[in-house]
Amino acid sequence: MILILAKKKKTMQTIRGFRDILPENIALWQKVEKEATRLFDAFGFKEIRIPVLEKTQLFSRSIGEATDIVEKEMYTFADRKGDKLTLRPEATASIVRSYIQHKMYATDPIRKFFMMGPMFRRERPQKGRYRQFYQIDAEVFGVESAYIDSQLIFILTELFKRLGLTGLSAHVNSLGCPDCRPSFQRALLDFIASKKDRLCDNCLRRIDKNPLRILDCKVTSCKDVLQDAPATLDHLCNHCEDHFATVKTTLETQGVDFIVDKSLVRGLDYYTRTAWEIQTTTLGAQSAVAGGGRYDGLVKELGGPQTPGIGFAIGFDRLVEVMEQLDKAPQATALDLFLICLGDMATEKGYHWSCALNQNGIRTEMDFRGKSMKALMKRANKLNAHYVLIAGEDELIQNAIILRDMNTKEQVSLPVETLVPELIKIFKK
Ligand code: HAM
Repeated sequence: MILILAKKKKTMQTIRGFRDILPENIALWQKVEKEATRLFDAFGFKEIRIPVLEKTQLFSRSIGEATDIVEKEMYTFADRKGDKLTLRPEATASIVRSYIQHKMYATDPIRKFFMMGPMFRRERPQKGRYRQFYQIDAEVFGVESAYIDSQLIFILTELFKRLGLTGLSAHVNSLGCPDCRPSFQRALLDFIASKKDRLCDNCLRRIDKNPLRILDCKVTSCKDVLQDAPATLDHLCNHCEDHFATVKTTLETQGVDFIVDKSLVRGLDYYTRTAWEIQTTTLGAQSAVAGGGRYDGLVKELGGPQTPGIGFAIGFDRLVEVMEQLDKAPQATALDLFLICLGDMATEKGYHWSCALNQNGIRTEMDFRGKSMKALMKRANKLNAHYVLIAGEDELIQNAIILRDMNTKEQVSLPVETLVPELIKIFKK
């Protein structure tokens, strides 16, 4: 006898750092999307949708050649024509590109945008860190006033408050402007000069390319060396000092808690003046739930007119994880009605009833597999149906379809001709 062994097919899996967000976990995501959209709308932000794929140059020119993101984390490839393309690692650069490409500055330079969507960075995956992750991003163009800096931080804290988040702290810093940068850079280079032998190769390479990036190094020995490094905050010009003072006073008068954090440098090069992060203690190493700041030189750098810009991005995945830990997940929505139709005639009628009810926004389902009453009752329970409708041959002959409340077990009979409008009346009450 020849034994044929069935070869078991290997199942396909997501790639490392990529994941599915399953329907049973989606309620929290939708709750955040709804609350964020409501808040953005009230503050005058308009939604923008930008491509997932852009020319690589857009990101290297804006985020900075010597940043971790551009040096090692971007998903970059050549398309069939040889053009270098990159899956967006963040949204700011694309929104700036769009602002310039569509000459939005010409009709109204003051623009406020928000977007939500996936970003891609090839980092080492761990809790709160994925290679495809989601951001809720907001950007404001054309406003130089420090009030907008405070307002963006206020919006973030207001959103987190509405979502019931606790245990977050806002870390705020000023990174200065091109006027004060040189004095800071000199102080930093003087400080580093005697400590070069204790810095990692990456830092040494960055001394000439972009010394500010050294302050963002994650290597523990570098962090130790840089603990007493000069801070941008101690080298601000008068304009930056005044700007930062207004941000702080405004936040104080609004009752927004914040910490001035001299060591906060952010991982992207485009920032000027105010920069901030909202941090949590609940996600281990991945403490930043949101980050943002001003980028007054970026629109010009990318070929537009001199236009101030500022914005933030929330790490959506991290936000959801913090909410899960705080048990803020909303209850899954239950089914309004499950149709138990026994026999061909009842099934045909049931199909039309259920579609009509669905059209009226009533969560209705039925099962077309021809199962028994007992099996269908079990399914209604599994789907957590509030009501079941029972229509067998007898009910059709007697023109008395049964509607049963699954909680109270109370039943009423409804005639076939007016069944749908009667049900709509009951469910819309
Ligand atoms: P970012 O700090 O690079 O800033 O990212 C913002 C947030 O995205 C982080 O605070 C974090 O919560 C989340 N995030 C970043 N990488 C990952 C990852 N691998 N997995 C999960 N979450 C992650 C920006 O992207 C700037 N574009 C923000 C901005 C907008 N600045 C001005 N406007």
